[in-house]
Amino acid sequence: MARTIKTLVALDTGVSAANVQSALPVGGEIEVWGVVEGFDEAWRTLQETTTDLVVVACAGYSDRALYFIEGAVRETPTRPVVVLCDGSPNGFVRRVFEMGADDIIALPQTSEEVYFALQKAVARKQGAAVASGAALAPLICVLGPKGGTGKTLTTSNLGVALAQAGHRVAAVDLDLQFGDLGLALGLTPERTVFDLTKSGGSIDGEKLEAYLVEHDSGLRLLLAPSRPDQAGVITVELVREIYAALRTTHDFVLVDTPPGFTPEVISSIDSSSDIVIVGMLDSLSLKNTKLGLETLDLMGYDPSRVKVVLNRADSRVGITADDVHAVLGRVPDVMVPSDREIPRALNAGAPIMMAKPDSDAARAYAKLAKVFERAAAEAKPQSEAKQRSPLRRLVPRRA
Ligand SMILES: Nc1ncnc2c1ncn2[C@@H]1O[C@H](COP(=O)(O)OP(=O)(O)OP(=O)(O)O)[C@@H](O)[C@H]1O
Ligand SMILES: [Mg+2]
Repeated sequence: MARTIKTLVALDTGVSAANVQSALPVGGEIEVWGVVEGFDEAWRTLQETTTDLVVVACAGYSDRALYFIEGAVRETPTRPVVVLCDGSPNGFVRRVFEMGADDIIALPQTSEEVYFALQKAVARKQGAAVASGAALAPLICVLGPKGGTGKTLTTSNLGVALAQAGHRVAAVDLDLQFGDLGLALGLTPERTVFDLTKSGGSIDGEKLEAYLVEHDSGLRLLLAPSRPDQAGVITVELVREIYAALRTTHDFVLVDTPPGFTPEVISSIDSSSDIVIVGMLDSLSLKNTKLGLETLDLMGYDPSRVKVVLNRADSRVGITADDVHAVLGRVPDVMVPSDREIPRALNAGAPIMMAKPDSDAARAYAKLAKVFERAAAEAKPQSEAKQRSPLRRLVPRRA
């Protein structure tokens, strides 16, 4: 029989118990054995019982909740803590991770989605989640804490560079409301992820094929809905299924994200193998990039899997490479200069990689592609060796 995960739910004052209750899983290995109102009572309950998982429900930013999370994590660091937020998580996400929580889920969500997220938090804490990831293609999540830093530019050109190098590459536009990855590549949204949701049934690589739109370079795209109101039906769960399917049928999967750490972005970070964080070369943007790097750190993301792209990086702005190093604590992996050809090419629906392959900007993206190609090539012999080893044992050794 599957083991049960004894779960305590602590309700902050002001949160709707009914909303939380309807999101809680019923049945399965996650057993909600107590829903307690107020953190004092919840704290006492934690002291008196054995609990495998703590769920903290609140109606938005809450200092009480943060204190409670910190205490619960300090008391038993191996026990996962997940936050259900029935209100705006703005300004709260970062603090929640700082206190040591494992995940934050913005309500409303179905109880199945919450069940899946809780299971994942438990698996991650036990260090079991990564075990099956070895044979999957890299999932590269392109992030930027603020809007307009060049995420879409980076995703499109990195995707094209990898496709031109002969790889099978898919890119997902996760900017579900205002996605313009298709536009950046001159593609019309004949088919989008919204059409996929209407198809019903489970998702696999073969089914997804019909919803991908192919660019001249060979890059294949799953485009964002053509209208913002269609975004609501695309769940975090669906997005995870899409990633899993694409990673089995492609060599690289890229994700273009909206600005900030929205629930979809957090979930994509969780699913990803690598991150590209795109910042710009001015003091405000550098500060935001640093905050982004720190947030990833707090989420437990391996820093060696994070690459930094510094966009609009011209010496004219008066910030030196040393300044960048001092603020970010690391040197950027790639610098992309400002180039008038970029908006011009974008307006014509042509990536700079193809419109001006000899430009410094295109060279920068080619360099970034090489970084990922090298990492993938280094990872391959290892996993192949792992697969080969049982066979090798069947070959008799020479005396
Ligand atoms: N290096 C550059 N040189 C010139 N123009 C640039 C450069 N980088 C970005 N731009 C311009 O800045 C605008 C924003 O770029 P992009 O759409 O890639 O940003 P984004 O981070 O995806 O934005 P959003 O957060 O809105 O999704 C585009 O019009 C693009 O042409
Ligand atoms: Mg964008």
